Amino acid sequence: MSQAIWSDALSLNVAAMDDIHQEFVATLAALQAAPDGELVARLDDMIAHTEEHFAQESVWMKAIQFPPIHCHEEEHDKVLVILKDVRRRAAAGDLALGRNLARELMPWLEHHAATMDNMLAQIIRQNGYEAQRSTGTEGRPG
Ligand SMILES: [Fe+2]
Ligand SMILES: [Fe+2]
Repeated sequence: MSQAIWSDALSLNVAAMDDIHQEFVATLAALQAAPDGELVARLDDMIAHTEEHFAQESVWMKAIQFPPIHCHEEEHDKVLVILKDVRRRAAAGDLALGRNLARELMPWLEHHAATMDNMLAQIIRQNGYEAQRSTGTEGRPG
């Protein structure tokens, strides 16, 4: 499904992680609903969210010495490169590309949450690690 709607099927039973994934879905829903004139601004919001989201998961991965940290970070980095490239092209007029990306991000999250993030959540729970949001939302517009 490509429409950005939170479902409990996405829950990984780590509250701070679910919180950040709900924020991903809400930010993506705003991007999907954006009129043409606001598409680039909503892509900027998506990039800001994603940078914080991925930085937060890196903090947790380092704290619990998550073995496949590099694999997980590489997957994050690829998404950020694509987001920034599509943002640049959308700003240059290719709005259709931005809309394509907006559709593909939900299946991406579903797959990523079920695989890499799920593995991280399992180790967080096994270690009894108290994952908290720490990278902060201050300084972000909106
Ligand atoms: Fe995540
Ligand atoms: Fe992740």
